[in-house]
Amino acid sequence: MHLFRSNILRFLAVCFTVAITSSSTFAQDGAKLFKGNCASCHKPTDQKLVGPGLKGIRARWTDEAKLISWVKNSTEFLKTGDAYANKLYEQYGKSIMPAQALSDAEIIAVIDWADKGGDAPVATTADAKTAVAGSGDSETNSDTYFYILLVVGLILIILIRVLGTVNKSLKSLVDEKQGIVTEIKPVLSPYQSFRLWASQNKKIVAIIGLLIVTWSLKQGWDGLMGIGVYQGYAPEQPIKFSHEIHAGQNQIACVYCHSGVEKSKHANIPSANVCMNCHAYIQEGAVSGKEEIKKIYAALDYNPETRVYGPNKKPIEWIRVHNLPDHVYFNHSQHVKVGKIECTQCHGAVDSMAVVKQNSPLTMGWCIDCHRKTEVDYKDNKYYEELHKQFVNDPAYKKGDKFTIGKIGGLECSKCHY
Ligand code: HEC
Ligand code: HEC
Ligand code: HEC
Ligand code: HEC
Ligand code: HEC
Ligand code: HEC
Repeated sequence: MHLFRSNILRFLAVCFTVAITSSSTFAQDGAKLFKGNCASCHKPTDQKLVGPGLKGIRARWTDEAKLISWVKNSTEFLKTGDAYANKLYEQYGKSIMPAQALSDAEIIAVIDWADKGGDAPVATTADAKTAVAGSGDSETNSDTYFYILLVVGLILIILIRVLGTVNKSLKSLVDEKQGIVTEIKPVLSPYQSFRLWASQNKKIVAIIGLLIVTWSLKQGWDGLMGIGVYQGYAPEQPIKFSHEIHAGQNQIACVYCHSGVEKSKHANIPSANVCMNCHAYIQEGAVSGKEEIKKIYAALDYNPETRVYGPNKKPIEWIRVHNLPDHVYFNHSQHVKVGKIECTQCHGAVDSMAVVKQNSPLTMGWCIDCHRKTEVDYKDNKYYEELHKQFVNDPAYKKGDKFTIGKIGGLECSKCHY
């Protein structure tokens, strides 16, 4: 029995080593690598993003060694004078594809995955996050394997326990027959018997411990990679302010409160004084009564009975919903005033939201996609009219080509990045 047991343990140990190492191999599979390194600029389809769609890429690069050196460091590769690569580079407005710190095997994995169009069904919708969602399948797969192995492991452990108990009862049966009196064990609480079991089965405990640690690390990693974290983000705010009531039912214009939106980079959140334009009079709401409006008064140290302001003001600490990384430049007035884009196109139907939620993914792919598709409104704008003339007179111009934001520089790295 002992022999049997240690063999099983060895088998289990192998099982778990495989589970753990393969979960890092999973991390290396094409879909994940693509998502982590390439999805901000490429789609695994025919569609362009910042760079070309990578479906069927192998047919375009028959020499694998060249393809690998391109991905590793495109700038270096261009210096070899390769005609195809240099033409592509020109075609993409000399955008530099950043060097990718991946091993050959990893690059092959990404290429193989993208070459066949990613995971079916291939995403056809616009943003990179959706392209990425296509690859989500394989991520769930790797998760599923992980959990299956976990469950198999646990079942094996239970099996060993059961076999152990059977063995023991058999032994005591034999003992009884031979007239040996087995010692009477004290009755243990479940916790005590668990401790006893744990102290007798240190290896199993160590393996379970290791599994839990690996699992938490994996969760933490996914969290860090920001996989699907922000879209739909709708934090609870310090005051239950409802856009549905204000912008919807009461038709208050967005710019009444977000006064910066047409003249500056930021849309700004209104100060409590703006609320008081109305709430000095409206002291009660239909939904929350006086409860929530009272918090405006508290922030301003205002007494609604005497209508007197005290000295202890403190700002209302609204929680930011939308937040681009610091290296990205985004300007509201350029989009709202000059580009005439409606708030809803990016923020969704805010006027029917009781709690604001992030409607768009705010990824690079999302910005670029709109810039590629949206045509410039060049009428009544001298500067754009000039650019439009140049565009139409360019020898490369074909009838039907669209004068998009991309054509006026909306795809240049430096326009969006500091
Ligand atoms: C920051 C944007 C960016 C990232 C990230 C990026 N690329 Fe690119 N890639 C480009 C651009 C732009 C081109 C077009 C050529 C040029 O302008 O240099 C390109 C071209 C390519 C080509 C040649 C396409 C063709 O049609 O022949 C391949 C292959 C490629 N990239 C693979 C990758 C892989 C694999 C990754 C991830 C490991 C990746 N790229 C990450 C921007 C990027
Ligand atoms: C009566 C004032 C008021 C009006 C009118 C108003 N808002 Fe707001 N808005 C706020 C306040 C206060 C917040 C911060 C609290 C919150 O997020 O709910 C906010 C937050 C937001 C946010 C999230 C900001 C973030 O943290 O990222 C968006 C987007 C937004 N508003 C869009 C709109 C749009 C679009 C309209 C018009 C349909 C509008 N707002 C009308 C007061 C207003
Ligand atoms: C232009 C006028 C106006 C402004 C400015 C305004 N509100 Fe209101 N607010 C209203 C109206 C109208 C109601 C609906 C009252 C009712 O239910 O009869 C309301 C209701 C509310 C309610 C209660 C909702 C309910 O039904 O329980 C809260 C909370 C509130 N507002 C917070 C704010 C805050 C915070 C600000 C400043 C960021 C603000 N309001 C700015 C007009 C305004
Ligand atoms: C082209 C897309 C787009 C349009 C159109 C747009 N927004 Fe935004 N909005 C964003 C992005 C992106 C952010 C995040 C900005 C950041 O983190 O720097 C944002 C952030 C905000 C915020 C948070 C405060 C800030 O400035 O960062 C508010 C409030 C807001 N928008 C309101 C509006 C309103 C009101 C309109 C319409 C008048 C509008 N937005 C139109 C994309 C857009
Ligand atoms: C819904 C479509 C849309 C989305 C989404 C969008 N933009 Fe734009 N963007 C436009 C339009 C339209 C213009 C042209 C405005 C004009 O006429 O100057 C523009 C112009 C710009 C410009 C100026 C380009 C130039 O050549 O002067 C920058 C920079 C910019 N956008 C950044 C961003 C960033 C960053 C994001 C994502 C966070 C984003 N945009 C998302 C539509 C969009
Ligand atoms: C239209 C605006 C826009 C243009 C043009 C643009 N970017 Fe970005 N970029 C963004 C936004 C927005 C993010 C933040 C995305 C996020 O946080 O998910 C970003 C993120 C990045 C990141 C961080 C990695 C990531 O995916 O979050 C890199 C690197 C990057 N961009 C490189 C480039 C390069 C190189 C170019 C030129 C080929 C370029 N960008 C052109 C808007 C743009």
